[in-house]
Amino acid sequence: MKIAFYDTKPYDKIWFEKINNEKYNYKIKFFEDKLNADTAVLAKGYDVACAFVNDVIDTQTINILNDVGVGLLAMRCAGYNNVDFKSAFDKLHVVRVPQYSPYAVAEHAMALLLGVNRKIFRAFNRTREGNFSINGLLGFDLFGKTAGVVGTGRIGRVFIDICKGFGMKVLAYDPFPAKIEDVKIVSLDELYKKSDIISLHCPLTKSTKHIINSESIQQMKQGAIIINTSRGGLINTLDLIEGLKSKQLGGAGLDVYEEESSYFFEDMSSDILEDDTLARLLTLHNVLVTAHQGFFTKEALESIANVTLENIKEFEENKMLTNEICYKCGKTDENCNRNRGKSCF
Ligand code: NAI
Repeated sequence: MKIAFYDTKPYDKIWFEKINNEKYNYKIKFFEDKLNADTAVLAKGYDVACAFVNDVIDTQTINILNDVGVGLLAMRCAGYNNVDFKSAFDKLHVVRVPQYSPYAVAEHAMALLLGVNRKIFRAFNRTREGNFSINGLLGFDLFGKTAGVVGTGRIGRVFIDICKGFGMKVLAYDPFPAKIEDVKIVSLDELYKKSDIISLHCPLTKSTKHIINSESIQQMKQGAIIINTSRGGLINTLDLIEGLKSKQLGGAGLDVYEEESSYFFEDMSSDILEDDTLARLLTLHNVLVTAHQGFFTKEALESIANVTLENIKEFEENKMLTNEICYKCGKTDENCNRNRGKSCF
């Protein structure tokens, strides 16, 4: 198998090279470019294109990959909102890493919550400057407060356990809720009204885009903290900024941002930030932004490399692709190939 690996960072190479050398011996070409319609042609002569969260895998990109002979798109992530599945069907098989470490993301969500609530980043800046005042750093006990968790999947469930460990009450919303002890499944409206903190753990879809908007923010308790480690598009950022300015919201911890693709994962510290919304967000002292690092633990990187290479091996061996996704999947269709133990097409 020849693999065109897009959007490579040094930390990707460490794990993929190590595990590939130990077990697979595939030919991997590491490109720094993101995968999009301009760069898809680089995959000419490769069997597999390996891509990540901010690559643009639209109809045009897919058609080019198909034209140059790529048969598999191996997403080395869980989320796949950046892939146009309808276009991919019958052209490119698409696989992903459905789970690698839900703990990595859930623990990061809690780190953001603690950071925002106890203003750790402000304290860090102060003490480094020799300012030992604690004025303005007042937080609240998490113990006894209510966490509202949107999405009770793998990450949401770990986050719920962490919240319970802090002695919090938990409300959750999910159209297909998991049964979890001591967690009340409620409507979104009730969750917004009753939660002191709200953490988003659902995928970005047409129905979840901008679920956090001025209307939902108005329903929330005054001073509520919002945590988003899922996808930026879940939040209407301008509405979030208004909610923070009006003090309706008490803070936000964001690992993702709707327009992150031009910025996150890159060192832009010598450039002028052109995105005024992001720039405004970064001026707010009760907002903590991290650049999509929720997944970034040793355990998660190792697992991503292992599962991605195993996904590729299944493709090489013409087996059913365990982690394949297509726009038909998930629908209760008896004729679905995967229901009959085969690949999607
Ligand atoms: P999962 O598939 O295990 O769980 C997602 C849950 O969301 C499911 O229970 C599903 O029923 C629920 N859901 C679907 N539509 C919903 C809606 N309209 N409202 C509420 N819940 C809804 O996914 P997992 O592994 O827990 O990941 C969650 C999200 O975390 C991913 O979609 C991805 O966007 C994000 N993520 C972020 C990472 C980071 O580095 N910041 C890393 C990995 C994932």
